[in-house]
Amino acid sequence: MKVNLRDEYHVPVMPDEVVWLMRPKQGGVYVDCTLGSGGHAYRLLEFAGQGAELIGIDRDQDSILAATQRLERFCDAVSLVHGNFGDLSEIIENLGISHVDGILFDLGVSSHQLDEAERGFSYMEDGPLDMRMNGNEGQSAGDLINILPVEEIAGILKVYGEERWAGRIAEFIVRRRDEMPISTTGELVEIIKAAIPARARRAGPHPARRTFQALRIAVNRELDNLEAGLEQAMKVLCRGGRLVVLSYHSLEDRIVKTAFQDASGARGQGKIRILTRKPLRPCKEEVTANPRSRSAKLRAAEKF
Ligand SMILES: C[S@@+](CC[C@H](N)C(=O)[O-])C[C@H]1O[C@@H](n2cnc3c(N)ncnc32)[C@H](O)[C@@H]1O
Repeated sequence: MKVNLRDEYHVPVMPDEVVWLMRPKQGGVYVDCTLGSGGHAYRLLEFAGQGAELIGIDRDQDSILAATQRLERFCDAVSLVHGNFGDLSEIIENLGISHVDGILFDLGVSSHQLDEAERGFSYMEDGPLDMRMNGNEGQSAGDLINILPVEEIAGILKVYGEERWAGRIAEFIVRRRDEMPISTTGELVEIIKAAIPARARRAGPHPARRTFQALRIAVNRELDNLEAGLEQAMKVLCRGGRLVVLSYHSLEDRIVKTAFQDASGARGQGKIRILTRKPLRPCKEEVTANPRSRSAKLRAAEKF
């Protein structure tokens, strides 16, 4: 099956900064832990030139399909793996790779996942309440909100969404599901709107944004995977190898910042040298051209 790889399928964020910090070189081995549709991977391979190799990992089979098309030109240099970067060490070992020069994480969801209503990630479109990056694995968002006790739903919304109205939204969810199961994103958006007082809904972003973020993180165990992936990345990198991470909200960035500090000289372990004292942000032109880049923070480190 062919994917329609139109430009907006997913525009890679801060591509020049990623390449500049990764310094891809001839014969180098790179791992893109969040392949998506292969935008960053393409740039890395193009810049690296002769003999470079890229291992691309993604949990989402549609991303693997899209990247296979985008990276066709480099097919001899690329190995694509449908898997979870939380299993990074095992993936690298299974491929028989002993030397890795650079690892990229570009966290979160890709534009095609958000834009396709049937994936259930978007509060702007009506679709089934799914949100699984790998549709064959684990419980969907619908499963969670129709099963979990009210306190657990409130906890997810508070911790992963930093949602001020977590308790009220959880109560409204449980009240509705007692009448009939909640099965679509549209139904959930209506419940959230009813739960948040009108004056609080008037200002700021879409009222469902935080709840959807929280459920997506919980469904995909995103923060656990990130911690595991970063720890393994620092192990599998060779000396002088580089780790580049793009994050899109404060919970992710906090994990990246802490992992870097713990592994750097700053806290005594000295496994890596931090290359970005403060995270880099996209320039104004990039945010105008690609509004989804606006919350990006880029951190990079080099293995000692
Ligand atoms: C922001 S997109 C990456 C876009 C990519 N850099 C590009 O240029 O097209 C994030 C991708 O990471 C994938 N992903 C998220 N968590 C993952 C995990 N734990 N393991 C593997 N892939 C993951 C998502 O399915 C999604 O395709």
